Amino acid sequence: MSLADMLYSQGFGTRRVCAGLVQQGLVRLEGVPEPVTDALHAVEARERLGFTVQGQPWEYHAQAYVLLHKPAGTECSQKPSAWPSIYTLLPAPLRQRPQKGAVQGVQAIGRLDQDTTGMLLLTDDGKLIHQMAFPRRHVPKVYEVTCRHPVDSAQIQRLLAGVVLDDDPKPVRAAACEQTDDHALRLTLTEGKYHQVKRMVAAVGNRVEALHRSRIGALELPADLAPGQWRWLTPAELEAARQTAPAATPAA
Ligand code: URA
Repeated sequence: MSLADMLYSQGFGTRRVCAGLVQQGLVRLEGVPEPVTDALHAVEARERLGFTVQGQPWEYHAQAYVLLHKPAGTECSQKPSAWPSIYTLLPAPLRQRPQKGAVQGVQAIGRLDQDTTGMLLLTDDGKLIHQMAFPRRHVPKVYEVTCRHPVDSAQIQRLLAGVVLDDDPKPVRAAACEQTDDHALRLTLTEGKYHQVKRMVAAVGNRVEALHRSRIGALELPADLAPGQWRWLTPAELEAARQTAPAATPAA
């Protein structure tokens, strides 16, 4: 592909803007000593090919797979109502990647509440979004829950046995639940109902004070990724994400 097309595919602006960036000598390719100024210069775009645009280092990814540590006080919507959007935490090229198939740019796979912190996966790979977000795939998600009242074994047993929420007579149960402190639980859910953790914990007579998602399937939030930070998934993490969603089970 041409250098200008490569920049366009990576979210550096319209095709015209990308051609202009190249012509002005603002783009440098890894291993090439001088800026390339021909917008039609042919590039063999391989994964993680390094380049800089106006001094900003970037790497080529045919599709974007990103981990974000969501801080509290952010909304997962592109058009937030009260809090800043999580998308403002991503650099412009990630926010501006062009539409791929049915997917309009980089999207979060699932959502967390405004006050929930922790792991979010974002991608423009429609297949992965479908695989991981499809309810019947039952991808396990692990939440660290801080409760207002002390946790007891009766609450844990009820969360494991199943509780009825107000919008569905069918009980929802935790796939796993363990006490991690006097006032803390680790809860694994394989569904993603609205405010599910908060409503389940309320249903057993306690209340969520703080909520943090530490794991999605085989992927764990890296300890060195601070709140508000993002990074590309490593090839091993991407493979783990793809393996995470087992085949859909038939409807009961
Ligand atoms: N359950 C909730 O109640 N909130 C979240 O953000 C995620 C799961």
